Amino acid sequence: MHVLSTAVLLGSVAVQKVLGRPGSNGLSDITKRSVDSFISAETPIALNNLLCNVGPDGCRAFGTSAGAVIASPSTVDPDYYYMWTRDSALVFKNIVDRFTQKYDAGLQRRIEQYISAQVTLQGISNPSGSLSDGSGLGEPKFELTLNQFTGNWGRPQRDGPALRAIALIGYSKWLINNNYQSTVSSVIWPIVKNDLNYVAQYWNQTGFDLWEEVNGSSFFTVANQHRALVEGATLATTLGQSGSTYSSVAPQILCFLQRFWVSGSYIDSNINVNEGRTGKDANSLLASIHTFDPSLGCDASTFQPCSDKALSNLKVVVDSFRSIYGVNSGISASSAVAIGRYPEDVYFNGNPWYLATFAAAEQLYDALYVWKQAGSITVTSTSLAFFQQLVPGVAAGTYSSSQSTYTSIINAVSAYADGFMNEAAKYVPADGSLAEQFDKNSGTPLSAVHLTWSYASFLTAADRRAGIVPSSWASSGANTVPSSCSGASVVGSYSRPTATSFPPSQTPKPGVPSGTPFTPIPCATPTSVAVTFHELATTQFGQTIKVVGSVPELGNWSTNAAVALNAVNYASNHPLWLGSINLAAGEVVQYKYINVGSDGSVTWESDPNHTYTVPAVACVTQVVKEDTWQS
Ligand SMILES: *[C@@H]1O[C@H](CO)[C@@H](O)[C@H](O)[C@H]1NC(C)=O
Ligand SMILES: *[C@@H]1O[C@H](CO)[C@@H](O)[C@H](O)[C@H]1NC(C)=O
Ligand SMILES: *[C@@H]1O[C@H](CO)[C@@H](O)[C@H](O)[C@H]1NC(C)=O
Ligand SMILES: *[C@@H]1O[C@H](CO)[C@@H](O)[C@H](O)[C@H]1NC(C)=O
Repeated sequence: MHVLSTAVLLGSVAVQKVLGRPGSNGLSDITKRSVDSFISAETPIALNNLLCNVGPDGCRAFGTSAGAVIASPSTVDPDYYYMWTRDSALVFKNIVDRFTQKYDAGLQRRIEQYISAQVTLQGISNPSGSLSDGSGLGEPKFELTLNQFTGNWGRPQRDGPALRAIALIGYSKWLINNNYQSTVSSVIWPIVKNDLNYVAQYWNQTGFDLWEEVNGSSFFTVANQHRALVEGATLATTLGQSGSTYSSVAPQILCFLQRFWVSGSYIDSNINVNEGRTGKDANSLLASIHTFDPSLGCDASTFQPCSDKALSNLKVVVDSFRSIYGVNSGISASSAVAIGRYPEDVYFNGNPWYLATFAAAEQLYDALYVWKQAGSITVTSTSLAFFQQLVPGVAAGTYSSSQSTYTSIINAVSAYADGFMNEAAKYVPADGSLAEQFDKNSGTPLSAVHLTWSYASFLTAADRRAGIVPSSWASSGANTVPSSCSGASVVGSYSRPTATSFPPSQTPKPGVPSGTPFTPIPCATPTSVAVTFHELATTQFGQTIKVVGSVPELGNWSTNAAVALNAVNYASNHPLWLGSINLAAGEVVQYKYINVGSDGSVTWESDPNHTYTVPAVACVTQVVKEDTWQS
């Protein structure tokens, strides 16, 4: 009943796009209507699936820690069953924006759990360091038990603290507006302050980019660091705290941000590194949409979505994907295409990503919003190529809403933005699920299933299309670039926040409208649950970890019938064995892990036996049971 008919719908659109009367850039009204219906069908599915990935009770994160966000339920090829600081912050930034628009107690409970989980995450020592000097805050990912992840990884990643601060500041503003400032001071500010101090101290050091591959300076990271300090300084002032460090460092970050601009055309997303790429990267689109502030207009120093630099960059980035994906072949050079991370990408052989394609749409919806607010559009020599691609013959100049060129541009950019939604929608399967990627030739979904960030990226793009924009983050002068740049940073102090829970009943002040509360899409309670046993156990070559226990599926305690786990994700510093076994919902099982040598010899882990009650909960068809060898 909740099945999307987009495949059918878009199939007929594809035909009608050819037959229909083309608009100014070749797209017909049919595209708009098909995007309307895609969005209305996909929105509840995306929100449902996004919240499914949030612990402790989301349907695909069931039994994880409260406030944990799984990047994806995929545990093998790829293994994304972890919590990333970046992904979870971007997801909660979206949930906070949604909550801020309309009060929903269920979302508030999740926001508070997410924030409380950060107290634990900030405090644990990890391979990036510890809280004492802030270095541990740069750790990119954690176990869903809120423990450190010990395996090799591209670390540190310095966008995480900035993005987390931005998400938490969003909720802080709501609390302050509703007269709960003391909650912000006692619970949230101590967390945000650690993250802001981290940014002020470490912004001028290299780290890994958002794709976790390049150790350098990443445009996405730097843009968000700037926003976090500007917004953080304002919050500090509101709370009567000192924000002078943040307001003195922020302009230097903005100064550095200008360095990524390659004269006349685009943003080189990774600098201070020789990575052998052009630097054309959806990194820059994501930076622009995540630092969007309508009050900044089309400001180019902050690379606002409608700035001439960001639009020129969008053209260059999009064009870099036109000829390299089979799914884009035959699409005219003035129409939207599927886009990926960066053209040199080889991960899963390099494919389009849903979140990158939605980001292109979102940037354009942001731009449209600002132009309509302003009632004018300025075309500069920098953005001319972008505009001419859509409206041939347009010249540099400012066009006001009474002029036909203004209308032509609005129509063409609207159709172009919808075209990106449509390109992604074409490859969304009938159940509305969003994986990480889709195959560059066949369009089949690829890599991690149910990627939480994919759902968030759809939801934000859909909101912007509907004219729902985030609140302003910039303060006056936030876009003033100093005349000379310095790498000045400030060593901060860090302390473990003490308050971990929120006062109850922080309901909106009178007169604030409530929305329809989120209710999960109903589904049956399954009879059988796929339980993935996740066991950290160090082994020698030739040894196998097996699980054996009290039910037939676990071999009735007979070591001969034990179920072997898989070492596909094993690493010496993260010795993971895993395997999925279907167990009856609701049954209580006892089990132990055994280490079986190549000669068949069996070593049991120590007592006690593990006891686990398989959940019998609506919609919960898969769970992960995380254990460590009891020695
Ligand atoms: C530090 O800042 C200076 C001044 O903007 C800049 O030249 C340098 O590339 C920056 N280095 C890093 C790693 O951010
Ligand atoms: C990243 O690059 C910096 C130099 O810019 C270097 O000091 C650091 O060791 C590198 N980190 C890793 C993990 O390679
Ligand atoms: C486990 O025990 C049940 C009865 O208790 C039996 O039906 C089943 O065949 C046994 N399975 C194995 C693998 O030993
Ligand atoms: C674990 O379960 C087995 C099989 O029921 C039982 O023999 C053993 O005593 C149990 N161990 C402990 C420590 O309870």
